[in-house]
Amino acid sequence: MQNVTVVDHPLVQHKLTIMRDKETSIAGFRVLLREIAHLLCYEVTRDLELEMISIKTPLETIEAPTLKGKKLVFASILRAGNGLLDGMLDLVPAARVAHIGIYRDHETLQPVEYYFKAPADIADRLVIVVDPMLATANSAIAAIERLKQRGANNLRFLCLLAAPEGVQKFNEAHPDVPVFTAAIDSHLNEKGYIVPGLGDAGDRMYGTR
Ligand code: URA
Repeated sequence: MQNVTVVDHPLVQHKLTIMRDKETSIAGFRVLLREIAHLLCYEVTRDLELEMISIKTPLETIEAPTLKGKKLVFASILRAGNGLLDGMLDLVPAARVAHIGIYRDHETLQPVEYYFKAPADIADRLVIVVDPMLATANSAIAAIERLKQRGANNLRFLCLLAAPEGVQKFNEAHPDVPVFTAAIDSHLNEKGYIVPGLGDAGDRMYGTR
């Protein structure tokens, strides 16, 4: 059994289709990624624990639910992760943020880390790692390993698109980390791109190539 949830919501699927279209502009792609991040964030946080606190409304004192425990950490795998991160922070503005700079070597497809900064008390917090594309899974696996080394023990991974190969490899490496995605595509091509996919998410977001 794979540890993966596909967020199969009509709005998510509609927006994803526009993002896949190669004619979609950079501005449009960015806006859509942020909007989808809202919808994915809603799902990945669906089971967060609540606790009751006492508050005074203008009319009376009541017990009302509030999120329990320390603030979440969103860990963005640079650079494309930042596109999802922005939308996540719209919904959870008090979240702490970790940045993990990893690029994949285009020859070997292996991850190379160049930056890591995370909150010190990450062991006490739920960490949601974000990267739009779970392709070979090499970067995602390496990022989670680094976060675990720093003490993280309650993690989730959120992406926009996943390849079946990536999901399987990620599940094998980190069976304790549930994956949330908007879709699982057909396969990876020989260059490590998700097919049919949407191309290079970072390039489409930032207009590079
Ligand atoms: N990264 C991307 O941006 N796109 C892919 O298809 C695979 C990895």
